[in-house]
Amino acid sequence: MSTSVAPASLAAEVHAGPGAWARLRGSSPWWLLPATVVTVLGGFTVYSLWTAFLSGGVNQSGPYLSPFYSPLLWTTGPVSPALWVLGSPLLFRATCYYYRKAYYRSFFWDPPSCAIGEMRHRAYRGENAFPLFLNNLHRYFFYLVLIVTGFLWYDVYLAFFDPAGGHVQMGIGTGIMLANVILLSGYTFGCHSLRHLAGGNLDCYSTARFGTARLRAWRWVTVLNERHPLWAWASMFSVVITDVYIHLLHVGAFADPHIVF
Ligand code: FES
Repeated sequence: MSTSVAPASLAAEVHAGPGAWARLRGSSPWWLLPATVVTVLGGFTVYSLWTAFLSGGVNQSGPYLSPFYSPLLWTTGPVSPALWVLGSPLLFRATCYYYRKAYYRSFFWDPPSCAIGEMRHRAYRGENAFPLFLNNLHRYFFYLVLIVTGFLWYDVYLAFFDPAGGHVQMGIGTGIMLANVILLSGYTFGCHSLRHLAGGNLDCYSTARFGTARLRAWRWVTVLNERHPLWAWASMFSVVITDVYIHLLHVGAFADPHIVF
């Protein structure tokens, strides 16, 4: 008779059971998650439109520029400058593989959740027909967002090294802007399209051109990609928090606490 003993790590995994998040989800009604997604994504969309077009001009205070207005192009004219830059980040999010799952379930109930049957009984067309096949443009929005992300890092540089004031500063505003661009970069560089570009499209790294470098890049992207939903939500909140903070400075609600070097 032979007996087998599970390795300690495997045994721990077997007996650990579902995590706290999984237990919470398991005990919540199925509609809670879709309702939350609708509320948060809907709120974000409404807020974006308000701050870009209805809040009364460029949201800027001292060296701080709102991410909704960066890069600042064509500041004169009847149209909000946010119009020229908002398109690519919003379309990038709207076509993101993770957000697609979230809003197909929550807004279209197609289906609304795991283990819940289809509520709309139509022939399944996937993403092959208009307008959903436009989601395939995601990789091109990625290239545009790379440029925008570069400008956001430049804005953080300007926030720290205030060129108008001629000094280096560090405070709440610089911290918020830095945290925002780190979260946005984590979201952007964990993109599924980038993972595919880096090495996901290869069958064999050892025979591919630059195979070792691509394997290394693929591993780095994978680290971010494994937490892509978390980066997606965290960066969305950080964009709003950064914009609200700069709005408050802009209207003089308080002064930005910072140290000048
Ligand atoms: S898949 Fe989410 S940003 Fe590309």
